[in-house]
Amino acid sequence: MGRSVSLSPNPPAGTFYHRLSNRHYSVSGRAMRRHQLDAQGREVNVVEKAVHFAIGSGNHAMTYVHRSPEGRLLELPISFYALDGWAMSPGYDTPTHLDFRREVTEACLFCHSNGREPAPIGCGRCHGDGAAHAAKPTRGNILNPKRLPVERQLDVCLQCHLETASSGFPDSLRQPGRDIFSFQPGEALTGYKAYFDRPGPPRFEVNHAGYGLLQSRCFQASGGRMTCTTCHDPHGFQARNVCAGCHESTHARRQQADCAGCHMPKRATEDAPHVTMTDHRISLTAPKAQPPGELAPFRGTGRLDLARLRHTIDSGRGTEADYRRWAALEPRSVPALASLGEALMRFGKPAEALPVLQRARKADPGNVVVLNALAVYEATRGRLPAAMRLLETARAADPDHPLTWINIGVTREALGDRTGAEAAYREAIRHQPDSSGARRRLGALIQ
Ligand code: HEC
Ligand code: HEC
Ligand code: HEC
Ligand code: HEC
Ligand code: HEC
Ligand code: HEC
Repeated sequence: MGRSVSLSPNPPAGTFYHRLSNRHYSVSGRAMRRHQLDAQGREVNVVEKAVHFAIGSGNHAMTYVHRSPEGRLLELPISFYALDGWAMSPGYDTPTHLDFRREVTEACLFCHSNGREPAPIGCGRCHGDGAAHAAKPTRGNILNPKRLPVERQLDVCLQCHLETASSGFPDSLRQPGRDIFSFQPGEALTGYKAYFDRPGPPRFEVNHAGYGLLQSRCFQASGGRMTCTTCHDPHGFQARNVCAGCHESTHARRQQADCAGCHMPKRATEDAPHVTMTDHRISLTAPKAQPPGELAPFRGTGRLDLARLRHTIDSGRGTEADYRRWAALEPRSVPALASLGEALMRFGKPAEALPVLQRARKADPGNVVVLNALAVYEATRGRLPAAMRLLETARAADPDHPLTWINIGVTREALGDRTGAEAAYREAIRHQPDSSGARRRLGALIQ
């Protein structure tokens, strides 16, 4: 895991055409480029970004990251796979992927990096703060996970290796008041996070080692004796063939060889189609599909109300009351305030939206969603210059955001600047070629 992040990546040169989104990608040197072809075969919608970091050891895949001049980390749209070479990054194999606009959040960095700044995972993530130990090394002033109770040993690994689902519903939520990087090895993971699962068809994903193992009969019946390090050397990471230590049946004796080859098969993952992983759900029976149902606790308690609420809102079914409840449950969350403000605008309640959006802006002055909603508020009141100033601030914070460019176009049109409006719509399309809103407005303007 010392290779979880590379600060000096050398992506192999190559090209990849993605049919579903009709985009051409190429990599050369430390830059990734995308273009499309117009009816005359000329290159249009060109975007090029430098490659600054890589995530992954390359055993399965290498995904690249760009740091924008404003300091945002962006995942790049194609990844290099050990099995297939260049192909779309996990989650991007759709007609309308996020292309060069998907943020690598602090939540990603918690698992892929030692800290908020991209860096390889260090000793402290499993051994705790090592400052005292480095100054004066003794056995007593550094945490050896081996001496923790088995549950806590597991938690050291599960902080990064437990994910019930990579998308579709909130798989976990931090407990109230817990900062992302506040987990300390040795403490109970459930005091830091609560995990959820949703009944439905069984899933098999890239980061499912913990999820699978916790559900296996083999783990559950071993009476608290099994941890990740039962099979894995925590520093070398080869899995050891330790099965026979617990299984002495005739079958186990006869099948000397590769127990895992039959009982922990490697399979293609659903969320990253070019990758195969080891199924940690050691079991003789295939997992059963359950009828789809509500989110339920998987590990730890609490936050279930909030998880269900977030699921409703994320799937576009939120009512005004839902948005209000989210903001009430998480009064310091900017996304909660921003979503409430935006929703109130959508529900036709601008007077109520305004103070909410102003509070959100105060907490996060560069929040593009909030700035755009405030600009729409000003524009609908006929204050076009004020709207334009807000949009300029949004553009400076994130020059790649298609919605900002669309709103700039609409405002320029209202100000009588047709050339400027056309340029803004084209910029929105360059960043998001599948933006139907920008294409519709551009079509209406130039017809
Ligand atoms: C809960 C911890 C966790 C979070 C949160 C998380 N990942 Fe991962 N991710 C992992 C682990 C662990 C693996 C590797 C599994 C393996 O290689 O055995 C992985 C694999 C990947 C891979 C495939 C590369 C490879 O080595 O196979 C990519 C790309 C990736 N993650 C990107 C992201 C991005 C982007 C985010 C944020 C949106 C994110 N991850 C959030 C833990 C996490
Ligand atoms: C991914 C988690 C993880 C990381 C990162 C990690 N360790 Fe460990 N380390 C462990 C675990 C777990 C044990 C206990 C081993 C066992 O159960 O036998 C351990 C044990 C040790 C031991 C004691 C070995 C023994 O005989 O008991 C030393 C020394 C050590 N680690 C040093 C380091 C140093 C130095 C680093 C950073 C370069 C580091 N570790 C990074 C998980 C980790
Ligand atoms: C800070 C987050 C973090 C912690 C803590 C952590 N891991 Fe990982 N681990 C990762 C990531 C990210 C990857 C995948 C990145 C990569 O491909 O190097 C990974 C990869 C692995 C791999 C696959 C290595 C390979 O080359 O494919 C094994 C095995 C593993 N971890 C076991 C463990 C065990 C056992 C523990 C607990 C002692 C542990 N990890 C703790 C983040 C973590
Ligand atoms: C810490 C002890 C321990 C280790 C190590 C261990 N197992 Fe198990 N395993 C158990 C126990 C206990 C059961 C439950 C036995 C029972 O139901 O009679 C079990 C059950 C199983 C089952 C039956 C699952 C089912 O659905 O009934 C299989 C298969 C299995 N283990 C395979 C393995 C393999 C393969 C390995 C090595 C990769 C392994 N085990 C390592 C303790 C262990
Ligand atoms: C019963 C033994 C056993 C236990 C317990 C176990 N693993 Fe594994 N793990 C394996 C085997 C076998 C492989 C495949 C190794 C290989 O192909 O070289 C593997 C592979 C992995 C990989 C590499 C990616 C993949 O899926 O092939 C990761 C990551 C991993 N394990 C994480 C964990 C974590 C985290 C835990 C604890 C929650 C854990 N493992 C517990 C046996 C085990
Ligand atoms: C060639 C594939 C294969 C290999 C290799 C293999 N198994 Fe199995 N194992 C099976 C099958 C199939 C069953 C189910 C048999 C049945 O339906 O009764 C089974 C059943 C089991 C069971 C549950 C029944 C019992 O006899 O206890 C355990 C535990 C188990 N295996 C452990 C192991 C261990 C440990 C190893 C390695 C030493 C191993 N297996 C190697 C295929 C394999």
